[in-house]
Amino acid sequence: MAFLADALSRVKPSATIAVTQKARELKAKGRDVIGLGAGEPDFDTPDNIKNAAIEAIHRGETKYPPVSGIAPLREAIAKKFKRENNLDYKPEQTIVGTGGKQILFNAFMATLNPGDEVVIPTPYWVSYPEMVLLCGGTPTFAATTAANGFKVTGAALEKAITPRTKWLVLNSPSNPSGAAYTEAELREIADVLLKHPQVWVLTDDMYEHLTYGDFVFKTIAEVEPQLYSRTLTMNGVSKAYAMTGWRIGYAAGPIELIKAMDMIQGQQTSGACTIAQWASVEALNGPQDFIAKNKAIFQARRDLVVSMLNQARGISCPSPEGAFYVYPSCADLVGKKAPSGKVIDGDETFCSELLEAEGVAVVFGSAFGLGPNFRISYATSETLLEEACTRIQRFTASLA
Ligand SMILES: Cc1ncc(COP(=O)(O)O)c(C=O)c1O
Repeated sequence: MAFLADALSRVKPSATIAVTQKARELKAKGRDVIGLGAGEPDFDTPDNIKNAAIEAIHRGETKYPPVSGIAPLREAIAKKFKRENNLDYKPEQTIVGTGGKQILFNAFMATLNPGDEVVIPTPYWVSYPEMVLLCGGTPTFAATTAANGFKVTGAALEKAITPRTKWLVLNSPSNPSGAAYTEAELREIADVLLKHPQVWVLTDDMYEHLTYGDFVFKTIAEVEPQLYSRTLTMNGVSKAYAMTGWRIGYAAGPIELIKAMDMIQGQQTSGACTIAQWASVEALNGPQDFIAKNKAIFQARRDLVVSMLNQARGISCPSPEGAFYVYPSCADLVGKKAPSGKVIDGDETFCSELLEAEGVAVVFGSAFGLGPNFRISYATSETLLEEACTRIQRFTASLA
């Protein structure tokens, strides 16, 4: 009898964490490495949010929370959905988890039976298929292309849906591509979903506040109210408020689903950290000027990176609408020889040779289900981004 569960053999470790770890190891050995693998803002959490946590500690808010979240946070979440997304959710329809990650995991755990399929557009955030597999479901994929901005079309979605499909995962703006769906694009998806009443939508709106230029963020239940009764709208404070370490995510949806997720959470964590929840109340209800300031910084970084990458030989980099990632293609460099003598046979080798030759750590696209591409996180200073892009230009020029 094997000691470890069979479920473990179905999943693989996160490639993004592996790249961050590799960059850390090389740095520890004294190599000059620029890590562009991490998926978190480089800003500190705003002081008003930190102070709300400190005050909560001093008030003695140090006990177990209610499983689904403290009442003031569930109210703040309901208000946020009304204010920013024009969605009516009662506080009882919301749930707070230990990061958006746990919300997603528990939604799958609460709903998936063996054979149930979850449609995931490629390229996808690395955790979606693994979570589906861990929960006993089957991930299926809907392909996108750079030509349609890495966004799933109605036709591609229609092709991916089967009678076993239980969920569609939508992530806009996307990790890893930065692509964000316009209202018209969501309409096209909604029209397909209306024909398949068994399919629910899990919309991961984690990067909602990071969109650039005149892009207007919309979420699917707002675009098509008929989908409200089968949508779980997920969001969190990690990216918008630079709170990745506080581990608070949340969602709202039909009460039966929320109750099922509450039951799982009750046997799992008993709820998210009380102090971090009080900090999140301040994040959602307090001043929001931090968001606009950061957006402007991220947009300038995106523009710098896109421009410099498009000047690198053989790299083609679309300018995405949001998040803090770009997803350039290295297809034109496949077949060329790196300074080490190794032939670039795809994005994984491209990224390992880039790290070897120039000390720039990026994540290979195949890890996200679509290559030959690579993901750059531009959540780091312009100085470092400029240096990293200069090194990428030098590396691509050196390929023979
Ligand atoms: C698309 C997406 N969803 C969810 C998460 C999880 O966020 P959290 O830090 O709230 O667990 C991430 C984090 O990288 C993400 O990129």
